[in-house]
Amino acid sequence: MSDPILPVTRRALLGSSAASVAILTAGEAKAGNVAASAASIRMPVSLTVNGTERLLTLDPRTTLLDALREHLQLTGTKKGCDHGQCGACTVIVNGERINSCLSLAVQHAGDEVTTIEGLGTPDKLHPMQDAFVEHDGYQCGYCTPGQICSSVAMLKEIARGVPSHVTGDLDGEMRATDVEIRERMSGNICRCGAYSNIAAAIADVARG
Ligand code: FES
Ligand code: FES
Repeated sequence: MSDPILPVTRRALLGSSAASVAILTAGEAKAGNVAASAASIRMPVSLTVNGTERLLTLDPRTTLLDALREHLQLTGTKKGCDHGQCGACTVIVNGERINSCLSLAVQHAGDEVTTIEGLGTPDKLHPMQDAFVEHDGYQCGYCTPGQICSSVAMLKEIARGVPSHVTGDLDGEMRATDVEIRERMSGNICRCGAYSNIAAAIADVARG
């Protein structure tokens, strides 16, 4: 037996549409208010960046990457994917390399942050910067600040004996072999494909 067909009058249809619009509008207004109040929250954050204490007042949703680039004008650190996939935003925090796009600035209150600007200057390059120049470890240069920050911290990981996925003998001496360097740097993507020269530059520094 088929369902009875209910008559739908023009008045009833318009009435229910108006009610739906009213509900949606109220919901959107509420969501808008939540977003607006979230946007108006600011928090003080103190970071030590390249040896200097910096006090910022930030929306708590600000990433460390945006705090560095947009609030401190340290634009050496690059935004590639903004999703933790390319490594262009790598900085060193308390001696460890991190993807600054994946970390909120407020999580780093009191931390020591080193960016590419803090590693060396044009007059006094860091040995890794020198080696990248020497070995042509870049083409467009977009990934280079991240590659250099990452490699500086990576060699310290090896010196501390932190194993990687390809480390065979956990009890033996850990060395910066080509395989170790390539594995440990695999989170830093270079769209220009300067990998061979990057690895050569890092190996040069590792050899001291
Ligand atoms: S911008 Fe952070 S990993 Fe790509
Ligand atoms: S040098 Fe261009 S992306 Fe690496």
